[in-house]
Amino acid sequence: MSVSSVQYLLSRRSVKFVKAPGPTEEHLAQILQSAMSAPDHGKLRPWRFALIRGEAVARLADLAINATKTAGLPLTPEKEASTRRWLSEVPLLIALACHIDHSNTKIPEDERMLATGAAVTNMLNAAHMLGYGAYWSTGLATYVDEMNEALGFDPLDYRFMGYLAIGTPIQETAAPQRPDYHSFVTEWTGL
Ligand SMILES: Cc1cc2nc3c(=O)[nH]c(=O)nc-3n(C[C@H](O)[C@H](O)[C@H](O)COP(=O)(O)O)c2cc1C
Repeated sequence: MSVSSVQYLLSRRSVKFVKAPGPTEEHLAQILQSAMSAPDHGKLRPWRFALIRGEAVARLADLAINATKTAGLPLTPEKEASTRRWLSEVPLLIALACHIDHSNTKIPEDERMLATGAAVTNMLNAAHMLGYGAYWSTGLATYVDEMNEALGFDPLDYRFMGYLAIGTPIQETAAPQRPDYHSFVTEWTGL
């Protein structure tokens, strides 16, 4: 891998506030294809995605807000308004789920979730490399069963993992300060 590719990884940051245009069809294909390169024990390919674009984003907003209220989760009028404002600009949401094949008892569920998380990270990195803003959210009634079902991910067979919002950054954001890796790393020598 060239140095400049690593620099892309080092400069990735989440960009929540995005607007149209969303990814072109060609770029969306590349973003989705990047998920297929994730490490994946047993080649289960457990990741599943649902594309929510254009006017469907507003329908998703209604659904998520209603599901949150029906579930009795806290939602202030301010939060509802800011969520609607945010989503009114978002050109693309990708709903994220991990398929749980109950017949497979060999690969633990945790590993399937990790593979799906790795796939989503690839998508975040691909979106960044292509010049888009992208952000992973587990808001929008992610943990409400009815919401998962409405998106086609029955909680009996899937772990719902939230959404990626992808589009053109509304504002330029400065690269955030990242911690130095040294305090996260030890060396084990076995001596
Ligand atoms: C699984 C997952 C779920 C997340 N859900 C939310 C969320 O619901 N709300 C939020 O403000 N940030 C959420 N985040 C964090 C943001 O996506 C983002 O990583 C964070 O703002 C830090 O920005 P950075 O990625 O540039 O370091 C989530 C991150 C992950 C990995």
